Amino acid sequence: MLYRSMGKTSEKVSILGMGCMRLPTLGSYDLIDPEKASQLLDYALDQGINYVDTAYPYHGLSNAEGGASELFLGEYFAENDRLDEVYLSTKLPTWLLEDEGDMDRYLDEQLKRLQTDQIDFYLLHSVKEKGWFNLEILGILEFLDSARSDGRIKYVGFSSHDEISFFKELVDSYQWDMCMIQYNYLDENIQAGKEGLQYAADQGMGVAVMEPLKGGVLAEHIPAEVQEIWDSFPVQRKPAEWALRYLWDIPEISTVLSGMNTMDQLEENLLTAEDGLPHSLTGEERELMEEVKEVYHGKMVVDCSRCGYCMPCPSGINIPQSLSYLNQAAILEDDTEVKNQYYFMLKDTERAGNCLECGLCEELCSQNIPIREKLKEVARKFGN
Ligand SMILES: NC(=O)c1ccc[n+]([C@@H]2O[C@H](COP(=O)([O-])OP(=O)(O)OC[C@H]3O[C@@H](n4cnc5c(N)ncnc54)[C@H](OP(=O)(O)O)[C@@H]3O)[C@@H](O)[C@H]2O)c1
Repeated sequence: MLYRSMGKTSEKVSILGMGCMRLPTLGSYDLIDPEKASQLLDYALDQGINYVDTAYPYHGLSNAEGGASELFLGEYFAENDRLDEVYLSTKLPTWLLEDEGDMDRYLDEQLKRLQTDQIDFYLLHSVKEKGWFNLEILGILEFLDSARSDGRIKYVGFSSHDEISFFKELVDSYQWDMCMIQYNYLDENIQAGKEGLQYAADQGMGVAVMEPLKGGVLAEHIPAEVQEIWDSFPVQRKPAEWALRYLWDIPEISTVLSGMNTMDQLEENLLTAEDGLPHSLTGEERELMEEVKEVYHGKMVVDCSRCGYCMPCPSGINIPQSLSYLNQAAILEDDTEVKNQYYFMLKDTERAGNCLECGLCEELCSQNIPIREKLKEVARKFGN
């Protein structure tokens, strides 16, 4: 296993981390299969994986309550006495915080669930611009200071799916040790993206990547045009291997978390990780991947550059973000995950279905996009 520094902390994390949001189950998402999940963890740890990521709601049936992932990990590490071999990462459910005492209450509950007295990397989960002001008022940064100084957490970070402008503001707002961003070869220009990755790394932050395979979309159900490009290369690799190699080529990425739920997936990704050195892709390989990206991007249906000139919308719609989901759905064969994100990220009032067709946005759009028509398409596709 190869290891990289987690930013300017002195910790060396495995370049492949175990994402525990998609562990094997006994049918229902909230019922982890303890035998299979333990086998996966045994093997991952034996092969040198030392970064294990979970969060309060993972493997729960709602985001409002603790899921089975933390509980399972707590039991696994206690029974096997292997907690010292890993960096354990979990996240504070920021959307559930209502009063000042909640932060301590959740952290203490998580420590109990995980059967430990210290969490190595504690992240604010899915921080969004629309809730950040309230979190600051609640004293979230002071809470992090105190939890760090009393030893309940060692390093602090955040995960975010929000836009680059807010991402930078967030990076600048505290002495974070690391962050977690969605990054894969199709998502370099959405959310934090390439610019955010560089920005965080320039501040000395470690960067953990989530959704490296776009939740599995870059590994399975590959469009025929893309598969033809992969097949044309003299060296044959599986799509997941290409996607992971692309990420490990980037030196600013500390660890790539994949949600592997079978032994085959784990073995394959471990094998790929053996060559995961920075700047390891050849010129020809880079060109090939550019071709693949071009095909995927060619399937996009809106030419939005996310300049934001169309904003603010008098009806409150988040126009650039709504349009970006239309693109994401168009390039993927299966858009279930995109629909989930649309509902998760946008408030009711920000969704495309609220368009009153005033047309102000179209007067301001730098790309002459027929925004009203596209918003109707978004609303039709996602049901609001
Ligand atoms: N903080 C946040 O907001 C947030 C959000 C998302 C994720 N995360 C963290 O990041 C981790 C990684 O994200 P992710 O689970 O979306 O990762 P991912 O690697 O993009 O997707 C995982 C899925 O990819 C498929 N897969 C993995 N390896 C494969 C292989 N070699 N061949 C074929 N398919 C393969 C599996 O799909 P199938 O199940 O279909 O087989 C698996 O469920 C999560 O587990 C979680 O810890 C955090």
